[in-house]
Amino acid sequence: MGMIDFKIDTSKCIRCKKCVTDCPVLIIDGKTDYPEIKEGKADNCLKCQHCLAVCPEGALSIWGYSPEDSILSSEPTADPVQLTNLIKLRRSVRRFKKTEIDPSLINLIANNALYAPTAKNENSVRFSIIDNREDMNILRESVYQCITKAVSNGQIKGSLSFFSNFADVWNSKKIDVIFRNAPHLVIASAPKDASLPIVDSSIALSYFELLANAHGIGTLWDGFALQALREIAQELKGLLGIAENHEITMVMVFGLSAVKYPRSIQSGHPEVHRIRLSDSSVN
Ligand SMILES: Cc1cc2nc3c(=O)[nH]c(=O)nc-3n(C[C@H](O)[C@H](O)[C@H](O)COP(=O)(O)O)c2cc1C
Repeated sequence: MGMIDFKIDTSKCIRCKKCVTDCPVLIIDGKTDYPEIKEGKADNCLKCQHCLAVCPEGALSIWGYSPEDSILSSEPTADPVQLTNLIKLRRSVRRFKKTEIDPSLINLIANNALYAPTAKNENSVRFSIIDNREDMNILRESVYQCITKAVSNGQIKGSLSFFSNFADVWNSKKIDVIFRNAPHLVIASAPKDASLPIVDSSIALSYFELLANAHGIGTLWDGFALQALREIAQELKGLLGIAENHEITMVMVFGLSAVKYPRSIQSGHPEVHRIRLSDSSVN
């Protein structure tokens, strides 16, 4: 852990103590002239930067982050109608155009998606991205080779046996059920000892998905690729540059959709249960 580097610009601080009150772990001392970190408590900092964010004067910097580099809450945020439409109009894309997405746009989407919340603010989700078709083709070939080898060695059994059909259709017809011929992929990984690695990764990828869709890019949550990489093609983990102490938590493929859906689907059975404890015998 680097230095907390908690600094107050005393020419701006109005001593409103909002930083003191909002700190989730209560390590900011408000009894001093200007706010400061309580003696010996820096290690408790969650690095959430709420103190920096809540300061009305932009007087507080921490962990090397200065308020000038933040966006302001007066900036427009998502229109609820448009966001709802985005959610309703998003479809799983299984037919992709060959066109590649600009790597800098992919990078921007990935970096913004990683603003997603994480348990204990661990921020340990990592995205490993394939941003070009050539590397995607190599990965695709390698995964099917691993599966084909595992099938012939009798290593694919039980609940994974459908992978032998996937290998067959790939080897005989070049039909790619696992990656759907997508031009790009993002692999989420997180340290094996993270608090909630799968939840953290799923939230980050959900953000990735929404941002991608907002840019007109289609996505597919790829459970088959996840299972293939985790259960059959483990040997590729090193090649993909996934850290040894990380587990692959989810995979998403993406690219421009070759299919246009002129309308939304309709959610058949939303299960929203309203809890009413006030009328029950508990009360
Ligand atoms: C965790 C998860 C894993 C999925 N894995 C796959 C997959 O491996 N292959 C696939 O074609 N679709 C996969 N899907 C997509 C679902 O089948 C899809 O979301 C569902 O049919 C609803 O369709 P929609 O996303 O277009 O609304 C997955 C979805 C989720 C949430």
